[in-house]
Amino acid sequence: MCGIVGYLGNRKAKDVLISGLKRLEYRGYDSAGIATMESAKLMISKTSGKVEDLISSIPADSHNGNIGIGHTRWATHGRPNDNNAHPHSDNAKKFSIVHNGIIENYNSLKIFLKSKGIVCKSDTDTEVLVQFISYIYSEKKLSFTETVRLALKEVVGAYGIVIMCDYEPDVIIAARFGSPLLLGIGDDEFFVASDSSPIIEYTRNIIFLDEGELAVIKPTGYEVRDINENILVSKEIEKIKYDLEEIEKGGYDHFMIKEINEQAHTVAESIRGRIDLEEMKVMLGGIYDWLPQILDAKHITITACGTSWHSSLIGSYILEELLKVPVKVEYASEFRYRETFVNNDSVVIGVSQSGETADTLAAIRKAKDQGALTLGIVNVVGSSIARETNCGVYIHAGPEIGVASTKAFTAQVVIFNLIGLLLAQRKGVNANICQDLINDLDKMPNLIQEVIDSGHNVLSIAKHFNNVDNFLYLGRGYQFPVALEGALKLKEISYIHAEGYPAAEMKHGPIALIDEEMPVVFLVTEKGYDKVLSNIEEVCARGGQIIIISTMINDELKSYSDHIIQVPKVHHCLQALLTTIPLQLLAYHIAVIKGCDVDMPRNLAKSVTVE
Ligand code: AGP
Repeated sequence: MCGIVGYLGNRKAKDVLISGLKRLEYRGYDSAGIATMESAKLMISKTSGKVEDLISSIPADSHNGNIGIGHTRWATHGRPNDNNAHPHSDNAKKFSIVHNGIIENYNSLKIFLKSKGIVCKSDTDTEVLVQFISYIYSEKKLSFTETVRLALKEVVGAYGIVIMCDYEPDVIIAARFGSPLLLGIGDDEFFVASDSSPIIEYTRNIIFLDEGELAVIKPTGYEVRDINENILVSKEIEKIKYDLEEIEKGGYDHFMIKEINEQAHTVAESIRGRIDLEEMKVMLGGIYDWLPQILDAKHITITACGTSWHSSLIGSYILEELLKVPVKVEYASEFRYRETFVNNDSVVIGVSQSGETADTLAAIRKAKDQGALTLGIVNVVGSSIARETNCGVYIHAGPEIGVASTKAFTAQVVIFNLIGLLLAQRKGVNANICQDLINDLDKMPNLIQEVIDSGHNVLSIAKHFNNVDNFLYLGRGYQFPVALEGALKLKEISYIHAEGYPAAEMKHGPIALIDEEMPVVFLVTEKGYDKVLSNIEEVCARGGQIIIISTMINDELKSYSDHIIQVPKVHHCLQALLTTIPLQLLAYHIAVIKGCDVDMPRNLAKSVTVE
C-alpha cells in the first residue's frame, strides 16, 4: 500500500530517495518523507501531501548523507497529516523507520511502552514499532541487527520496513513479513524498495525478500537472515525484465491513457509465443507440468479483488463453456475467511495485476493449506502471488502505473481464453469453438487498435455526461462483468457513483433509479440482442439517457440513443476486450474534464497490501 525505499552508497541519498518515491507514489500519496544519516546524525523531513510537497519542504543544501530511507503513505492508522507522516523515530531520535503494512498488536505494545514511561507522539502503529525497538536496544544492549530481529519476533501483522540508527550509522536494515520488499544490488551501492520501479535506473540486479526475512546492508555488502531462526539465507539475484521507458509517461498526460492506448501491443504480448497458428495449438509453459492435475480437477475456484475479480468472472464463463466443469468466482477477502469447499481435487486460480494484493495472497495460501493446486494469473514478475502459487501464467502487460487498472484487465481476459483453449484441446472438446477463438485471438491486436483509434467518439459523450451524480451500466452474459468494470473505472477516477448490473436484474430494483438525470450505458452484442433491446425500451420509457456500446449499428438502436459507439464483433469469449475499452476511455475523459487526479485518485492505491 505505502511505498518504501532505502539507499546506501556513494550518491546523495536524498536524490535517490526522492526519485524513488516519485516512482512509488502510485502506492499511496497521503504524505511523504525521508531520513538521511549525516556524520552519524539522523535528519528527517516529512510532510502530508504528495512527493512534490515534500520536495518543496526540504531546506536547500540539507540531507547530504549517502545513506537514507524514504516513504510515501497510504494512511491506515492515523489521519493523513504531518505528525503521522513517515519516517517515524523514537523519542530520543536515535532510530528512524519507514513501514508498509499494519502492526496488528500495536495497541498492546503501546500500552506496554506507556507502562515504561514511553509515550508515542503520533497515532500510527509504525511509531510504536520504532519506540519498541529503541526500548529493547536500551534494555538489552544488543547489536542493532539483533535488537530489530528480537523486536520483530514480538510483532503481529504485516510489515515491510527499512530502519536506520545513530548507533550504527553505516547500516540499514530491511525486513519483510506480509508486505513486498526487494533489494537492488548495484556497484558498491545498495537499494531497498517496495517494488523494482525505483531501482531500474541504477541496476537490474534484484533480490526478493521472502516472508520472515531480514537484510542487513553495510558499505561492505549485505546478508539476509531468517528472523525467527536467526540463520543466514542465501538468495538468488534476479534481473528486472522491463525497461525504464515502460514506467515513464512517454509524452502522455497520464499513465492511464498511455496504458489504455498500449492495449493493442500488450494484448499482442500476452498472446506472443503462446499460439501456434499452423498447428492451431495453445502453449502455456507455466502450467505445462501441472496439466494432468488441472485436467482432473473436480472443481475450479477463481479468487481475486477489484478489476481482477471482473476479469475472473469472464474467466469463469469461458472455462465453464469450454470445459463443462463447475467454476466459482470468489472475492478473495470473503474466500479467505469463509468455510469453503476446497480440497486436493480443487484448482484455485488467483488473479492479480500486482501479485501483492494481501487478500488474494492469503486466499491462495489458504487454498494451498487445504490441498488445492494453486495457479496464478499475474502481471508483476517475481511478485508474492507468482512465487506462492504452484504454477501460473504471466499476463505480460508490462508495468501498470495508473491506479485504475486497464491493460491488465484485457490481458487477463486473454489469458483466461488461452487457459480455456489449452485445457479444451487437451480434453479434445469443442474443437470448432477452439478454432474460431484462436482465429479471433490472432486478430485482436488490430481490432483493439481500431477501437482505440475511434476513441474520439467517446470524448464527445464524456463532454455530454461529465456533470452527473450517477451512472448505470447494464449488460447480459459476458457483457455483465464488462458493465461491472465500466462502473468501477468511472467510480474510482471521477468519483461519480456508478453501478453495473445484469441488464435483466434492473427490473428487480435499480429501475427505480431511472429518471431524466440518469445516464445508462448498455452493452449490446448479437448474443441476447432482443432481450437487451427490451431492457433499453424499459429505460427509455422512464426517460433515462442511453449510451450504447455495440457490435452493431442499426436504426432501432439509433432510435433509442444519440450516443452509440460501435466496436468490431468477435467471438463472445473475447468480445469483452473490445467493449471494455470505450468504457475505460469514457471514465478517463469524464475524470479529466472534471479535473480529477486520474493517475492518483483519492483514497486509492495501486496495490492493496493490507487487509
Ligand atoms: C482497479 O482499477 C483497482 N486498482 C483495483 O480494484 C484493483 O483491481 C484491485 O485492487 C486488485 O488489484 P490486483 O489485480 O493487483 O490484485
